[in-house]
Amino acid sequence: MAIQSVRGFNDLLGEELARFRRASSVVRSVLERHNFEEILLPVVEYAELFQRSIGEITDIVQKEMFLFKDRKGRLLALRPEGTAGAVRAFLEHKFYAERPYTKLFYEGPMFRYERPQSGRYRQFHQIGAELFGVAEPSADAEIISVVYELLKELEIDSVIEINSLGCKECRPPYREALKEFLAQKEEHLCKDCLGRKDRNPLRVLDCKEKSCKLAVSDAPKMVDYLCDSCKEHYSQLKELLTHINIPFRENFNLVRGLDYYTRTVFEAVSDSLGITVVAGGRYDYLVQELGGPPTPALGFAVGVERLALLLKDIPKPKELYVVIPFGDVLPYALKVAKALRSKGKRVEFSYRRGGLRKQLDFANRLGAKYAVIIGEDEAKEGVVSLKDMDSGEQKKVKI
Ligand code: HAM
Repeated sequence: MAIQSVRGFNDLLGEELARFRRASSVVRSVLERHNFEEILLPVVEYAELFQRSIGEITDIVQKEMFLFKDRKGRLLALRPEGTAGAVRAFLEHKFYAERPYTKLFYEGPMFRYERPQSGRYRQFHQIGAELFGVAEPSADAEIISVVYELLKELEIDSVIEINSLGCKECRPPYREALKEFLAQKEEHLCKDCLGRKDRNPLRVLDCKEKSCKLAVSDAPKMVDYLCDSCKEHYSQLKELLTHINIPFRENFNLVRGLDYYTRTVFEAVSDSLGITVVAGGRYDYLVQELGGPPTPALGFAVGVERLALLLKDIPKPKELYVVIPFGDVLPYALKVAKALRSKGKRVEFSYRRGGLRKQLDFANRLGAKYAVIIGEDEAKEGVVSLKDMDSGEQKKVKI
């Protein structure tokens, strides 16, 4: 049997790829407009980088990483996300020493061993943006505004949800209160949540299981436990978003599946497909936890395949010209094709010789808009016969 692609690892082609490219180019141009600088990060990092940043008690680290050992026995991982690698690079290149703050973006494949379904793959692509060195809520507002702009430019219907997860001061008491609350709900929790409720209780809040959802509907909320400075940060953010006309909805159960977040978290959720297309937040301790100086930071990542799924119009390819040499005219016909391409036209050449009808048939099958027919008369006169394949109209034109 012929070898097939690996489950969850897909070829991207045709219309799907056209959508993917359009989504990617719009996101990139919005990021460039906001002065984010691109960095190409490696696909492989030491596994420890993800264990230490995403957190040991997360689905990604516990069951979704593609891990392997190199020849010297060091444990490596295919990156499941880009933030950890961006922080690693920020530290390795000492950007903190050179710049007042740093704005990076990256694009590329990410890998997670999840159960594949529509919009969820084992190899998928993200474009992520990270802003290092700014603690002010204006940065949170700007980052969310970037997300809003790219969704607007792609005409994707979605809602931006926000929440605050507090900081080192106010999260622990909240965590305790939540643990106490969950202890009373044990009989309603799914198997996964029973395992999480003590070690990572916040994750129970965004479990998709119906019984868990119901059980946490009256759980204590982080926003009610925020310390004064987190409260101030969160309320300034909401005020700024309102001032710059960015619609948002508060979701007190939004906790995110990665452990590095502090304060602001957000997601853009498509109401039509019910999937998250963009997600991010603040991670004010991560740079320091990975060995750097204290550096507040925040960012987001879009799932490019998910944006592509939600795009309404897809760009049509340029109209196609097929150059058909007929008779002893090859050098002239090749020159014509070259001249058309130099004018930016999309041109195919009919390499196989044959009767005119057969070649026109070939042009038709390729979906040509124009056949550029070149016989010996045309070559002598320095013209071509341009046939409109839709109307059938044909006229001689100079090139
Ligand atoms: P994340 O929520 O794990 O966050 O992923 C971000 C986005 O990647 C998701 O909203 C989704 O669009 C896409 N995505 C995730 N998993 C899959 C999958 N299996 N198949 C298709 N698309 C997927 C992060 O990765 C953080 N690093 C985001 C961030 C950047 N936070 C701060 N800076």
